[in-house]
Amino acid sequence: MSVTDANTGILFGGDYNPEQWSEDVWVDDIRLMKQAGVNTASVGIFAWSSIEPEEGRYEFGWLDRIIELLHANDIGVILATPTASPPPWFSKAHPEALPTTHDGIRLVHGSRDTYNPAAPAYRTAAAGVARALAERYGTHPAIRAWHLHNEYGTVSYGELVDAEFRTWLLARYGDLATLNRVWHTAFWSQGYAAWEEILAPQQTQYLPNPTQVLDFKRFSADLLLACYQEQIDTVRELSDAPITTNFILPPWLHFDHWDFADASDFVSIDHYVDAAGAEGAAHTAFGADQARSFARGKPWLLMEQAANTTQVGKRILAKVPGQVLANSVQHVARGAFGILFFQWRAPYSGAEFFHSTMVPHAGEDTRVFREVTQLGALLGRMGELVAEPSAAGAGAAAAAVNRPRVAIAWDADAWWAAETAGLPSDGFSFHRSARRVHRALWFLGISADFVKLDHELSRYDVVLVPSQLMVTDAQAESLRRFVWHGGHAVVWYFSGTFDADLHIIPGGYSGAFADMLGVRIEELLPMAPGETALLDDGRTASEWSERIELRGADALVRFADGGQNGETRAQAAGLPAITRNAVGDGSATYVSTELDDSGLAAVLTDVLAMAHVEPDAPGAGDGLEAVRRYAGDDSYLFLVNHSDRPRETEATGTDILSGTSYAGRLTLGPGDMVVLREPAR
Ligand code: GLA
Repeated sequence: MSVTDANTGILFGGDYNPEQWSEDVWVDDIRLMKQAGVNTASVGIFAWSSIEPEEGRYEFGWLDRIIELLHANDIGVILATPTASPPPWFSKAHPEALPTTHDGIRLVHGSRDTYNPAAPAYRTAAAGVARALAERYGTHPAIRAWHLHNEYGTVSYGELVDAEFRTWLLARYGDLATLNRVWHTAFWSQGYAAWEEILAPQQTQYLPNPTQVLDFKRFSADLLLACYQEQIDTVRELSDAPITTNFILPPWLHFDHWDFADASDFVSIDHYVDAAGAEGAAHTAFGADQARSFARGKPWLLMEQAANTTQVGKRILAKVPGQVLANSVQHVARGAFGILFFQWRAPYSGAEFFHSTMVPHAGEDTRVFREVTQLGALLGRMGELVAEPSAAGAGAAAAAVNRPRVAIAWDADAWWAAETAGLPSDGFSFHRSARRVHRALWFLGISADFVKLDHELSRYDVVLVPSQLMVTDAQAESLRRFVWHGGHAVVWYFSGTFDADLHIIPGGYSGAFADMLGVRIEELLPMAPGETALLDDGRTASEWSERIELRGADALVRFADGGQNGETRAQAAGLPAITRNAVGDGSATYVSTELDDSGLAAVLTDVLAMAHVEPDAPGAGDGLEAVRRYAGDDSYLFLVNHSDRPRETEATGTDILSGTSYAGRLTLGPGDMVVLREPAR
């Protein structure tokens, strides 16, 4: 069963919480949904206490009525299981199923996500409500897809978790001797003589055991995946509708996106853009490229975004006029088959009452609702982008939805490794490193996929490895093979320093890649916070430097002399900062420091030129976004000008938004966008 097709077109709508409103408001909701072109509503997401107000007593009447009402109005339903918000009756009966924090505090209900994923009572209750929903609605024609849970991400500690953690460790290591060796428990007298002695790494006196912490993150991710899989199995018995769960893409990570995507029929992300203009567009592209990459050829959906204000850190970020249109079109350009929001109508009370919505507090006569309506009309003209999958299957068709030639390494273990306490710098963040590289590419007009290094790399010309501290042998070998066969790799500092057990690879840092890079890194020279160093190309660097011995590689850029600030810089003076090694038919470039923006752009420009990688349209970059999306036998060139000045490019095709045809030179004013169906090539 396909989640979208030529009849549905691009999905458009959002989280809809009718249980929070009286039924006369539902009638108004339908009127406004029709007005805005909404064709999809995600229902039931946190509605557990409305669906099951007491253990085993279900109240489906309201849900029956709203599903029928939506269906009668041709609005498809993405039906959620409400398991992210256990109701008070549940927590009262099963206090052990409440989450315990790292500090050992057991939380109480009163918010959301107050569940302990290791608690049998929670798992049983979650499967129970999922089954009840699937029994009742599994074959209902309104149900377009299942949205299981909401943003899996709760990490808990405590006795139940300790027990599950031990079981996981037993399966991983088999015996205590192996665990003691891998965790290197001889350090600080941590040797375990019995499994019962092992605890999840809660708050302790000083630095915790690094591999224990990493294993706990892996375990917690697997535990959440087990919760998801249980619900998938339950629902799948009773319904053929495609199944998904929504990934949040913040700067923290509690599960492995690749694993969750594998378990899903399609990938869904929640994306809350963190800036306006070109910076916001770069952030949007990052989220969309991740979603498409995690999906690995399956379809993907933007499950949530905000129509206006979002809480970003401590500040409320308001979207500028037109931004929601531009960001939404970007998601479609990068493969999304639907654009949904959190949430439909603004509540007058409740925890998130100032989060923006499609229908604001001030009602329909608002800038925001007008833009939402405009977006509905725009997406309505893009239906041909989601034609029926070919006979080759949805996977094959969607795999080619965009075809970037550049990939960025992305790995959950590497993210967690970078969070290890006791590294030579506190400044590591795998997310920040990957984001920075993606952003730099975006400003050069180049799109990228994300990959795990042991995925198939041969369809790319350039693979970028942003400070991936930990790699497996298979990943290191895969990158080496890629380069040997003509690929170009860029590896950032400290990558490949640890093996999969979080042990330092002997013989010099970045040991997993050192041969390929043609260097030996004998000493780490992290810089002080705020310290910068001058490079001999006139640019600056910060964060990190190393004592590198060249073993076959050439130094492209070196640290320059002088020492205004900090001892590190003086030590690094004259040492290589960027190196390149010829390997087989390809090249391996090493960046041993944090380059400034112009330095980063320069090294990427250089490598892209070697690999003959160019933007999808001339002049793209620096805020003019050009992305080619493929559908059926056609290609579509999306052009969006996020910059504040008119931009020129060259393109040929018919704009499916306006019907205008273009051939040759084309000027886009600030905020302009076109989606050109290109002539057959
Ligand atoms: C998440 C959740 C939503 C809502 C939004 C607010 O993405 O899934 O329920 O809380 O954040 O931004």
